[in-house]
Amino acid sequence: MCGIVGAVAQRDVVDILLEGLRRLEYRGYDSAGVAIINPEGQLQRLRRLGKVKELADAVAEEPTPGGTGIAHTRWATHGEPSEANAHPHVSSNITVVHNGIIENHEPLRKMLQDEGYVFTSATDTEVIAHLVQRERKNADSLLNAVQVAVKQLDGAYGTVLMDTNDPERVVVARSGSPLVIGLGIGENFIASDQLALLPVTRRFIFLEEGDVAEITRTSVRVFDKDGNAVDRPAHESNVSYDAGDKGGYRHFMLKEIHEQPDAVRSTLDGRLSEAGVLDQTFGTGATELFKQVKHIQIVACGTSYHAGMVARYWLESLAGVSCNVEIASEFRYRKSFVQPDSMIVTISQSGETADTLAALRLAKDLGYLGSLAICNVAGSSLVRESDLAFMTRAGAEIGVASTKAFTTQLVGFAMLTMALGKYHGLADDEQQGMSVALKQLPEKLEATLTLAEQIEALAEEFADKQHALFLGRGDQYPIAMEGALKLKEISYIHAEAYAAGELKHGPLALIDADMPIIVVAPNNDLLEKLKSNVEEVRARGGILYVFADAEANFQSDDTMRVINVPHTNPWLAPILYTLPLQLLSYYVAIIKGTDVDQPRNLAKSVTVE
Ligand code: AGP
Ligand code: GLU
Repeated sequence: MCGIVGAVAQRDVVDILLEGLRRLEYRGYDSAGVAIINPEGQLQRLRRLGKVKELADAVAEEPTPGGTGIAHTRWATHGEPSEANAHPHVSSNITVVHNGIIENHEPLRKMLQDEGYVFTSATDTEVIAHLVQRERKNADSLLNAVQVAVKQLDGAYGTVLMDTNDPERVVVARSGSPLVIGLGIGENFIASDQLALLPVTRRFIFLEEGDVAEITRTSVRVFDKDGNAVDRPAHESNVSYDAGDKGGYRHFMLKEIHEQPDAVRSTLDGRLSEAGVLDQTFGTGATELFKQVKHIQIVACGTSYHAGMVARYWLESLAGVSCNVEIASEFRYRKSFVQPDSMIVTISQSGETADTLAALRLAKDLGYLGSLAICNVAGSSLVRESDLAFMTRAGAEIGVASTKAFTTQLVGFAMLTMALGKYHGLADDEQQGMSVALKQLPEKLEATLTLAEQIEALAEEFADKQHALFLGRGDQYPIAMEGALKLKEISYIHAEAYAAGELKHGPLALIDADMPIIVVAPNNDLLEKLKSNVEEVRARGGILYVFADAEANFQSDDTMRVINVPHTNPWLAPILYTLPLQLLSYYVAIIKGTDVDQPRNLAKSVTVE
């Protein structure tokens, strides 16, 4: 979940490491640290509780020269956020940063303590430092020591190590947490994400599971999990990153909300013909697979899971294939039944979410016809390990709360619905109508964003609320869930979502004037049913905030605020109705004064289970 950056160069690297950390900070931000081997061969380590800014201030006061260094921004799993628990961790001449969880840290810690190693932190990570130290005594190099040590680790790690007695190299190991080597000229780098290294290189080697690599200024040697030297290809990256540039917006989240029309435009670009979706949109082999598929199993986490829930409505009602959706952390730990002729579809903004990745790996042994990843990061583990991939072209999403990634995932599913429908009875004229609706979507999104001011004013009414209830029906039920997730994530207001028809089975008991109820009400075939549910709430004194199609004929009054959302094809309404809910949570968070882009306790990329 954290960020790792490392460098072996002739020049001083501290600024490169700090810039890398700044770029990865959104992934984990409770503490940060850097360690550099200075020109005298001594280790200089600085760590600070809090954000990278605190660390940068400390570095500004204490010059930290040297060309070999590693740095880390942490999302604590073991041991509270504190300076003592911040990485890098040190065992005499060995220094380590680590992303992930060492599951057998307790027995390892006990063994190492019995042998006299002294621990100074409560982290699982520190066992790596002492274990490598222990193995270093019998190994002829840091590389060999790490190769022996990682065989004793259970769990997930992306880890980078330095040895002050051998300052010209770093050794890295990957198992379950991504690491990418950045290739420079006369200097090389390592990071948990290429974004960190874009200021210094665009050439990257993506390490595979189980790889251990030794990096010097002029060489990179990679070994697979069996210790064989392997040749991992270098890729030229075309990823763009504009961190630090909020484009005039106050927060990345607001910028990313407003980027949605363009993100959707570029996700559609070149993928639609008059007749429908081009199969190659999903990669080579998609046509053969789509023809055979009769069932889709979707697996994802968080916001991406909500996209999958919307997709289920679309795939079953329009594409003529049956569909199950499951949270990845549940799917991976239960014995599931694989329907005949099934394809597994994973969804992930980052492509590195540990539970989703584990679910995909598990599925490979279960007899699915094939796998498709809907993902925003090219080259991510999920994309590389899936048979097919649909790349959402949302651009880097920095705000921890997912916005444009979600709406572009929905566009991906809209296109998958059309692509599968082609082979399962979706009529040509329906395909054409859907194509037209999709092409109009960016403009509809633009029109919806003009509601921002109105929603900002509305947000005032939520400032003193402790709870909120979101209601929707059909394919708007997952949108209500997504609205509730956004609100709790960034404003820390407790929020729940219910399928509106379920109200009377319990949650009606919660309704009073202190419980705002947010309703998503497009003009679809469930509108009349939803109106009855709204009346049930009104009759019990609830205050309603209804996002509705003008044609739905809701009228504002003392107990109901109606905000009209532009009219759209009911099929795509879930995408449109997401935007007002994102804006609502954003403005409520602003009023509450929370850290919108980096909300407490969270991290952008959840690479631990
Ligand atoms: C969304 O706002 C969240 N921060 C979170 O639920 C996220 O969607 C989830 O962790 C899955 O991430 P992924 O899409 O990168 O797999
Ligand atoms: N498990 C380690 C710790 O708690 C690493 C956490 C992270 O990935 O930031 O320190």
